[in-house]
Amino acid sequence: MSSETLQTVIGYHQQTKHHPNHYARSLGYLDWATQPDPFRRFDGAEQVPLDHPPLSPEPTYDELFTGPAACDEALDRPAISRLFYDSLALSAWKQAPGSGRWSLRVNPSSGALHPTEGYLVVDAIEGIGDRPAVYHYSPMTHALERRVTLGGEHWDRLSSQLPTGTVLVALTSIYWRESWKYGERAFRYCHHDVGHAIGAVTVAAATLGCQTRLVTSVDDDQLAALLGTDRQQGIEAEHPDCLLAVFPGSPSSRIPWPTVDMPSSLLQHLASCDFAGTPNRLSSNHQPWPVIDQVAEATRASARSITAYRPPAWQSPMATLDAWPDRSLPAQQIIRQRRSAVDMDGRTSMTRDAFYRLLARVCHRGGFPFAVLPGPPNISLAMFVHRVDDLSPGLYLLVRNPQHEPALRQAVKGEFRWQRPPGCPDDLPLWCLVQTDCRQAAQTISCHQSIASEGIFALGMIADLEASLQQHGSWFYPRLFWETGLIGQLLYLEAEAAGIRGTGIGCFFDDIMHELLGLTGLGWQSLYHFTVGGPVEDLRLQTLPPYAVD
Ligand SMILES: Cc1cc2nc3c(=O)[nH]c(=O)nc-3n(C[C@H](O)[C@H](O)[C@H](O)COP(=O)(O)O)c2cc1C
Repeated sequence: MSSETLQTVIGYHQQTKHHPNHYARSLGYLDWATQPDPFRRFDGAEQVPLDHPPLSPEPTYDELFTGPAACDEALDRPAISRLFYDSLALSAWKQAPGSGRWSLRVNPSSGALHPTEGYLVVDAIEGIGDRPAVYHYSPMTHALERRVTLGGEHWDRLSSQLPTGTVLVALTSIYWRESWKYGERAFRYCHHDVGHAIGAVTVAAATLGCQTRLVTSVDDDQLAALLGTDRQQGIEAEHPDCLLAVFPGSPSSRIPWPTVDMPSSLLQHLASCDFAGTPNRLSSNHQPWPVIDQVAEATRASARSITAYRPPAWQSPMATLDAWPDRSLPAQQIIRQRRSAVDMDGRTSMTRDAFYRLLARVCHRGGFPFAVLPGPPNISLAMFVHRVDDLSPGLYLLVRNPQHEPALRQAVKGEFRWQRPPGCPDDLPLWCLVQTDCRQAAQTISCHQSIASEGIFALGMIADLEASLQQHGSWFYPRLFWETGLIGQLLYLEAEAAGIRGTGIGCFFDDIMHELLGLTGLGWQSLYHFTVGGPVEDLRLQTLPPYAVD
């Protein structure tokens, strides 16, 4: 790797690894006096309250993968309300005896710190606004904060380049929210969270008969100008992450990738506008982590980097998946009941078929939900299998991109057996590397967390880091984390649908995982871990509804 920005990214990646004898740099304790407010507000901006939709029995969760009927008209106020209610809204409050309460959301977040902010850019919609506008979404009140209105001609120029009926959802990150607790590693966690949020929006949109696609043709400066975050400064500023096009369509509809040439007249209009509202201050004081600013700058999606990006289309049919019956589980119920397991019971197992079914979903077939991101999969799953009926415990590899198989065979330990597991569908690219009890290894690698050993399986998401950065450039680094977050989001939902539970694991010893697999250098790196199993509830905690009206 040559360029300076690539060196910055690689330096950051290496510097923020956890090792058993020293963790990535952080304060090392929680400075409660500076704990950030988990909710961004734009004080003074007009609030547009959204509806609180009742639980709908349809579509079913499994239908999302075969294609619920495409929505046949533009999204109206009830649909916009559901889009946010089922993706970025609060889902519960928790309270411990004798202590304060804290909120949980539909989308998960490392440490429940929620650095991800959501925005909506839409045409005039009855009951929301009589002109096209840019809104910030407030999960605390389940309301939109109108930041700026757009002239009709500007919206027409933007939307005429997109599929009919498109609404735009944008995501930004406040790194400080995460670095307050996790210090230098926080940049990674923020981008996992972005991936989870992309997944949450994509799934919620699918329940409405809509498809979601990442708009790759808008650079970070343009996105910040559109959202008005270019006016924020300092450690509490929001960083532009991504723009998502949400439009009517079923997973089976083949649509050209949406590209937008940001109209210069729109950018000029935005530059001359006053955005309504002042961002609230999140903390009384801050601890700066300069390396986060450096990696954020090095991974900025500039006009040049995105223009050069030409991902090939990806399709990898898997007949197996379509053969499984619908479990008649309401999608909205699965979405809203999603929760992280805080502990695993060390007993619950799952059937081999249920395991294969779950893994088939996590493979990227070119359809829902992975089609939200362009290009082929960059991530494979190295799995510690503990408790799957009729399957030997051991280390397994799910090669999500079959084109990676030869390179992965070269990269991992030569002694691995590469056996096809019994009963495994022919088109599921799962390999058993070694049969062994790997509970202790999984736990140790996961910063000694027993959720990794007491569940049914745990896994590490292995990315082709070096090749991806060489091919696309340093701006691709966060995008690898988005893909891991998207996989994590689907694992959470698949676990709920299977009657068990998942938990993201951001705390793991990177190089111990690499050593276990025999990986050397930076070619393949484990970016995110996850565990699935039978949860143990913390019965001391009381669960309260998300909103007073629910
Ligand atoms: C990127 C990421 C990393 C996480 N890492 C851990 C972890 O290492 N250990 C853990 O117990 N939980 C971990 N979690 C779970 C979060 O603590 C959990 O999402 C958060 O407390 C919110 O709770 P909820 O998922 O039930 O909404 C992680 C979650 C995410 C999204």
